[in-house]
Amino acid sequence: MTAWGRRDAISIILKEHQQLTTVIGAMLQFVRLREKGDVTPSFVVFRSMLYYIREYPERIHHPKEEQYLFTRIRARTHEIDKVLDDLNRQHAEGEARVRDLEHELTRYELAGDWALQDFRSLVEQYASFYANHRQIEEEIILPVALRVLTAEDWVEIDAAFGANRDPFEDVELEEDLDKLFRMIVNIVP
Ligand SMILES: [Fe+2]
Ligand SMILES: [Fe+2]
Repeated sequence: MTAWGRRDAISIILKEHQQLTTVIGAMLQFVRLREKGDVTPSFVVFRSMLYYIREYPERIHHPKEEQYLFTRIRARTHEIDKVLDDLNRQHAEGEARVRDLEHELTRYELAGDWALQDFRSLVEQYASFYANHRQIEEEIILPVALRVLTAEDWVEIDAAFGANRDPFEDVELEEDLDKLFRMIVNIVP
């Protein structure tokens, strides 16, 4: 048993945070390899990372946090309303950043190496943006959730984050995304 106890939703949230952190680590590695120039992973690899982020964290993870976890916390306490507002804003900002990354990747692809510097700094900014987001959720939100939410709240939240994790009830999507995640992890050494 972890420090978080046995809550299904919490272990799923932590696992999904770890997976996104891994994908972002692979993005940084992609940039490093391109800079060194001996091994140059193809642009398709980076695009599949962006695709993963759009399909999983953005389409499934963040909406579930907002819809179930954050909503329930707000119903029980107002002590972290401002933090929750910030996190909602960050979810939207994260999507904008991913669009910018895609745009900058295309520019780098078309313009060549002189655009690598700008691309790298965007990737680094996204990495620290997400590390901060993750830290707030794990160090502020989850402890408050464990303190204020009731057993009834957790039944709903655990169910939402549990077995049927896709909001559109498309279980195959989840399997495909797991496959994609493993592919990304394996492609960038
Ligand atoms: Fe999260
Ligand atoms: Fe989040």
